[in-house]
Amino acid sequence: MYEGKRVLVTGAAGFIGSNLTDELLSQGATVIGIDNMFNGRMGNLALAQKNPNFTFYKTDVRDYDRLLYLMKDIDIVFHEAAFTSVPQSILMPELCNSVNVSGTLNILNAARIRDVEKIVFASSSSVYGDTPTLPKHEKMHLDPISPYGVAKYAAEAYMVSYHRVYGLNTTSLRYFNVFGPRQKDSPYSGVIAIFIARIFEHKNPVIFGDGTQSRDFTYIKDVVRANLLAGLSQKAAGEVMNIAAGKPISLQELTEIMIRESGVDGLKIEYGPIRKGDILHSFGDIKKAQQILSYTAEYDVISGFQEYLNYYKTIILQKQ
Ligand SMILES: NC(=O)c1ccc[n+]([C@@H]2O[C@H](COP(=O)([O-])OP(=O)(O)OC[C@H]3O[C@@H](n4cnc5c(N)ncnc54)[C@H](O)[C@@H]3O)[C@@H](O)[C@H]2O)c1
Repeated sequence: MYEGKRVLVTGAAGFIGSNLTDELLSQGATVIGIDNMFNGRMGNLALAQKNPNFTFYKTDVRDYDRLLYLMKDIDIVFHEAAFTSVPQSILMPELCNSVNVSGTLNILNAARIRDVEKIVFASSSSVYGDTPTLPKHEKMHLDPISPYGVAKYAAEAYMVSYHRVYGLNTTSLRYFNVFGPRQKDSPYSGVIAIFIARIFEHKNPVIFGDGTQSRDFTYIKDVVRANLLAGLSQKAAGEVMNIAAGKPISLQELTEIMIRESGVDGLKIEYGPIRKGDILHSFGDIKKAQQILSYTAEYDVISGFQEYLNYYKTIILQKQ
């Protein structure tokens, strides 16, 4: 599908950016990956770096001149780079804004000057906030809570604006709780990555809250596929859409499944205070992505977790 396409992936050394990069390369694209290494790992690009069609530049999305230079012959941009932590965005809202809003504006401005055919932007379900309507759908009122959510809201509004006023073919994908290989197990990561690491360290998983909160966990391969569909879509120009599995699960149930499937004995679930900025329930309506991109989720949280578990046992535990 991507044979001969020249693609720029921002945040290429991160969890989603590196998985996307590998798939683009396997489909024949020439890929430039950029990352400032704030949260990225070069190890995530080990496979990509063996491919002669891949080049990596340590670059910050706040460096407009560098972006302009690198976008010279680019057809498609996948903008995955971001300040990605909700709790850290509460501590450092200015930094979050400069990377996630001004950095995105740099991407758009450089893409406009360089006549880039398509920009796909990684937005987030956090733009919905904690409104009671479920599932979250694209026509509803947006009410983000955290500075991270506000910044994603602003950035996707810029995506729509640049389509309207400059005719750029932009598409924003609102990801819902992505998980899978290469996700970091830092305190700021997704809960599945944190819990899988704790389980194999024989430590009890700790849920912030009572476990009734729910999420629509989306497996990385579905997110990568959604990006690839959006990257070649004319119909998705100027659109914003949810990318989710379309099926929620409570953290309690998820954690019980994770402990059981991992086969580690003697663990029990612990509970801590609820975190500021966290939302209670999140569940995405994926009809719009189905209609426009023919996107459907091929994984639910259980089949995704089983694949992730196999990866974890064969790749991560073997290295330790
Ligand atoms: N993982 C999820 O569940 C999820 C959910 C919704 C949205 N998203 C969005 O998807 C995108 C990818 O997220 P991820 O989970 O792979 O996170 P990640 O932190 O693994 O990847 C983001 C990458 O961006 C890089 N980066 C940060 N600041 C930068 C800057 N100023 N210039 C250049 N690079 C910079 C980091 O070093 C990192 O490698 C982000 O935009 C994130 O907001 C992720």
